[in-house]
Amino acid sequence: MQRHYINIIDQDSLTLETDEAPSPAAGELLIAVDFAGVNRADVLQRMGLYPVPEDASPIMGLEVAGTVAALGASVEGWAVGDKVCALVHGGGYASHAIARTDHCLHVPTNLDTKTAAALPEALLTVWHNVFTLGQLKAGETLLVHGGGSGIGSIAVQLAKARDAKVIATAGGAEKCAAVKALGADDVIDYQAGNLLGALTDRGLIGHIDVILDIAGGDFTNINLAAAAPDGRIVCIGVMRGSKAEIELFHILMKRLVLTGSTLRGMGVSRRAAGFNDIQREVMPLVKTGVIKPIIHSCVPLAAAMSAHELMQSGEHMGKILMDCSAS
Ligand SMILES: NC(=O)c1ccc[n+]([C@@H]2O[C@H](COP(=O)([O-])OP(=O)(O)OC[C@H]3O[C@@H](n4cnc5c(N)ncnc54)[C@H](OP(=O)(O)O)[C@@H]3O)[C@@H](O)[C@H]2O)c1
Repeated sequence: MQRHYINIIDQDSLTLETDEAPSPAAGELLIAVDFAGVNRADVLQRMGLYPVPEDASPIMGLEVAGTVAALGASVEGWAVGDKVCALVHGGGYASHAIARTDHCLHVPTNLDTKTAAALPEALLTVWHNVFTLGQLKAGETLLVHGGGSGIGSIAVQLAKARDAKVIATAGGAEKCAAVKALGADDVIDYQAGNLLGALTDRGLIGHIDVILDIAGGDFTNINLAAAAPDGRIVCIGVMRGSKAEIELFHILMKRLVLTGSTLRGMGVSRRAAGFNDIQREVMPLVKTGVIKPIIHSCVPLAAAMSAHELMQSGEHMGKILMDCSAS
């Protein structure tokens, strides 16, 4: 069976190439990919700024949805022809991709694979960081930076579905309105400047239980000030910089937890545990339409570079996908 995939020539050029589709090992599925999600890590990998783990596929792409094309040895609970979405260890920018079964989710019958492709990375990132590390509980307040991002838009919906109060930040009036429409209780336009002032005016300083932070940099001290006693700040991105000089007194006085994670760094067993929780706790909410991923646009696999340029422009809201089915 042939596989079509995107190869990195250099940071300015990608090509569509062909080789033999890989065979699934024990515990793995071969997926005929309909759609693949585009993520920041892919852009960094193209630019040579994201070292690929030694055991990962060198092909870009971390999430896919499609149909099971072949089963590895000792696979249970899956059959050829099943609809599936999955986190993959690289190799998602392709017509065929390999996934561990414990990193796969069954796609509900009422969901198309285009919608499903927008789920694995965002659901696992939000579940692990907001609920496992952040321990967000019903009645608590969550601050989501980047509420209009692929990750943030799922965080807003999932936290509301689990009865938290949600405050978000987003850039510009249009994105703020869109994040509010997702269910956020309040949205702050960070591009208007003075985020600390905006949180103060709303009486939120010292009252945020969990912060999902994609920003870092100068937002770090604002997060520390905004956190409630026993608050949890979870860093998952550094869109405003990876360095910050912080006021440690906030941590001492309020017993704060400042933590973070990366999906690739968390290891296979934590990822598998997360998917197990998501299949049970979150997929019923997806099936009933309580949680709907926001899909900004979808380009053909051969136009992967344009998908990256769009992500780098920051003009999108929600997920960018690639159609791999015609490849
Ligand atoms: N640790 C992990 O496991 C993990 C997993 C997945 C993603 N991530 C990280 O999560 C972030 C979102 O990922 P995504 O795939 O959802 O990307 P995305 O859809 O492209 O979103 C990027 C977000 O960053 C915000 N942003 C950009 N520049 C900013 C700035 N200077 N100040 C404040 N906010 C800024 C954007 O806000 P506006 O568009 O509203 O301006 C947008 O919400 C990225 O940093 C990514 O690396 C981490």
